[in-house]
Amino acid sequence: MVGDDREGMLTATAVSQSATDPLSGLVLTDAPIPEVRPGWALVRIVATSLNMHDLWTLRGVGHAPEDLPRVLGCDAAGYDADGNPVVVYPIIASTDRGHGDETLDPQRALLSEKHDGAFAEYLAIPERNLIPKPADLSFDEAACLPVAWGTAYRMLFTLAQIRPGTRVLVQGAGGGVASAAIKLALAAGAEVYATSRSAEKLELAESWGARGVESGGRLPEKVDVVVETVGEATWSHSLKCLRPGGTVVIAGATSGMNPPADLGRIFYQQQRIFGSTGCTRTEFVDLLRMIAATGVRPVIDRTMPLDEIHKGFQLMTDGDLAGKVVIHPPAPEGA
Ligand SMILES: NC(=O)c1ccc[n+]([C@@H]2O[C@H](COP(=O)([O-])OP(=O)(O)OC[C@H]3O[C@@H](n4cnc5c(N)ncnc54)[C@H](OP(=O)(O)O)[C@@H]3O)[C@@H](O)[C@H]2O)c1
Repeated sequence: MVGDDREGMLTATAVSQSATDPLSGLVLTDAPIPEVRPGWALVRIVATSLNMHDLWTLRGVGHAPEDLPRVLGCDAAGYDADGNPVVVYPIIASTDRGHGDETLDPQRALLSEKHDGAFAEYLAIPERNLIPKPADLSFDEAACLPVAWGTAYRMLFTLAQIRPGTRVLVQGAGGGVASAAIKLALAAGAEVYATSRSAEKLELAESWGARGVESGGRLPEKVDVVVETVGEATWSHSLKCLRPGGTVVIAGATSGMNPPADLGRIFYQQQRIFGSTGCTRTEFVDLLRMIAATGVRPVIDRTMPLDEIHKGFQLMTDGDLAGKVVIHPPAPEGA
């Protein structure tokens, strides 16, 4: 509900980009409450969460400088103008241009790429992107799902087509996408191996039911599917751990984009490599249903107010997180 007469709101806005000091380009600033054009809706944000995507934008990767300043933030849960609890599907795109799959629309834009994002008190978004928040999911939990969990859902179920008993290796257990992939694959009855550089994160993954392996370590068997978001640091391990004919699904490359390709192994072992980005609205709705049906929940490392967002990103940069950082913008008086 827009229970607020003010015209301005607090935002975390990218104003400049730097490969070496990305957080210097993120400023806390007042901005007007967004105007809502026809077919769009206003959401009062209760919770949002951090993603590596925001850091890439601040580093100048995949985001043109002329698209600044831009309010960052790709995930949101809150209330629509009628007071209904909603979670935001984060991709603004056309299914027609994507031949039935909006993630394949060449003009698709993740929230914060071409339109102001969710590190704010209010967000303007196409009505199509509003999805009722499942009642048994908190706003904090819902705010973790759109990017990290939507991406993991598509990787596992649409692209790798895992089923009960599939052996899945997830690289970098502490990551937002990785922890989602571990929990979703386990909930689907897969046998899950998870790597991490940190003993605590391995313990955490083991507490969910995965088998922990230190980064680069030997697995007791080859796997059918690898979920990759780490990139350069784990790519060669991913290919080595994969059975002939197995599938690597890659959605990110936090540690670097250009590992040796190991082409001989790929063709000789007939390995399949799928790139994956985001998820469709339908996949996102299916994810919400799966979460309701299985009781699986996102891992929240911590919550913090919007004005402490730099601290959250520093923890992410340092790799000191296990799961998601949830951010709370200031609530309107009386909310
Ligand atoms: N294509 C898409 O739609 C999509 C969607 C979401 C994210 N992404 C991308 O996927 C990647 C992960 O995103 P995220 O939000 O899940 O990030 P995150 O929460 O920061 O996770 C990154 C994880 O990667 C591991 N890692 C980082 N550097 C490493 C290194 N040098 N060696 C080994 N492991 C390392 C860490 O795992 P441990 O600490 O456990 O070792 C870390 O927890 C990012 O590059 C992001 O841009 C893509």
